[in-house]
Amino acid sequence: VHVAMHRLRVNGIEYDVDVPGGTPLLWALRDELGLTGAKYGCGIGACGACTSLVDDRAVRTCVSTVAEQAGRRVTTVEGLPVDHPVRRAWIAMDVAQCGYCQPGQMMAAVHLLRSNPDPTDAQIDEALRDNVCRCGTYHRIRAAVRLAAR
Ligand code: FES
Repeated sequence: VHVAMHRLRVNGIEYDVDVPGGTPLLWALRDELGLTGAKYGCGIGACGACTSLVDDRAVRTCVSTVAEQAGRRVTTVEGLPVDHPVRRAWIAMDVAQCGYCQPGQMMAAVHLLRSNPDPTDAQIDEALRDNVCRCGTYHRIRAAVRLAAR
């Protein structure tokens, strides 16, 4: 296995991680950097629990490799300022039930609001459709996105 240093820029900090380039970004975030906000749900890019931002894209970090994302600007849920509208809205709406999927939901919401600051309910549903919540918190997610957009 070829192991090499890869430079990751996560939440404004630069890290050199010593892992094979094919390592999923999710494992580097969680196991190498201790950033456990992004969650492992399915591992095949289907559930959204691992969603983080890379530059301005919402990326499923379980199916994206360290080599692909080296040098780019990665933002995880830990990188949202405490007064970020999405953070505040998630707390105000008490969105989380078990909470497992919520970091991914929040990062998908951040991504949506960057491109569409005032989404309709239909646009919220469309943007977050592939972020699965087994507790069924979708109503509160939608309400929180609307609140964050205000
Ligand atoms: Fe990455 Fe499900 S864990 S999409």
